[in-house]
Amino acid sequence: MVEAGRIEGQRGVPRDSPYAIWQKAEGVPLYKASYIENLYTLELGPWPRLGQNGAIVNLADQEHDDAWVIEIAPGQQTLVQHHLFEATFYVLSGRGATTFWQEGHPSDSVEWKRGSVFSPPLNCYYQHFNGDGQEPVRLFSVTNAPMVMNLFREGEFLFNDSYQFKGRYESGAGFFEAAAEKVTSNKWVTNFIGDIRTFGLDPAVGRGAGGLLTQFSMSNNSMVAHCSQFPPGTYKKAHRHNVGAHVIILDGQGYSLLWFEGEEPTRVDWQDGSVLSPKEREYHQHFNTGSTPARYLAMRLGELDARHYRGFMPEQIEYEDEDPAIYESYARECVGNGVDVVLPRPEYAVDAG
Ligand SMILES: [Fe+2]
Repeated sequence: MVEAGRIEGQRGVPRDSPYAIWQKAEGVPLYKASYIENLYTLELGPWPRLGQNGAIVNLADQEHDDAWVIEIAPGQQTLVQHHLFEATFYVLSGRGATTFWQEGHPSDSVEWKRGSVFSPPLNCYYQHFNGDGQEPVRLFSVTNAPMVMNLFREGEFLFNDSYQFKGRYESGAGFFEAAAEKVTSNKWVTNFIGDIRTFGLDPAVGRGAGGLLTQFSMSNNSMVAHCSQFPPGTYKKAHRHNVGAHVIILDGQGYSLLWFEGEEPTRVDWQDGSVLSPKEREYHQHFNTGSTPARYLAMRLGELDARHYRGFMPEQIEYEDEDPAIYESYARECVGNGVDVVLPRPEYAVDAG
């Protein structure tokens, strides 16, 4: 007789997913957490697939999207890559170039530097080059490899299929020089961002803190990104949504609270080079405690091309519905840092006094 909920033969022991099996077989350092303090100094190891050093960062207890940290030695390059999952690259440090092509067609290339963002079109061939003979390059890439591997169940298939997605990309036709298109008041469709650290962002009153927020859809891929900035002396409203957002801190100093309803928050302190990723429907809230604006880039799963994308509706906690302790502890910390609190004390719906 088979117990309810148990599949005969498996003896109730969960087996590794296809993605987890692939992850182990890659033989590179693997980081599983909700937060990594410093991507610049994260320890990497030789990654045979890339011909350079790297690590897999698999945050927030999930197998939807993951992240790869890649370091290219001075004057060197990665091996040629191509795969049936999407990847969006953020350049943490260094400068170089990437060449992209489809078999039988001329190639394209982009030159990038610290702060650049780009995304190889699906299943095209590409190769990264470090353009500096003295300094290494470090790249951070968010991919949807986990969900695609678990769908097809054979990781290697994803690296060995020759289909050309002509509807998304035709190599050699100026794809990466094409003009960026602003499709709404705060949403761009573009194939290359030269420097997200200085990109002009749009007002976003809904998230509080007098902040800015701009969204990006790149290379006709379904993964998306958004960049947000908020001023000193302020913090953003808490919210929660689906898992998979990788929040990379680009500038500033502060902390975030992460919590599930009814539980005590976990605090993570961040600065340039930190990354955090809330779990499925885990509340998160970002606090600027420094004297400069705080800016982050969130790389995450999307639904469709931005021209069709209607956005997702996170559940948000308005300031007046917060636990008053959130504001009090934030204000104390700002005072300790010599930073004036700009955000007025909320008028709480139910004020504890
Ligand atoms: Fe969020």
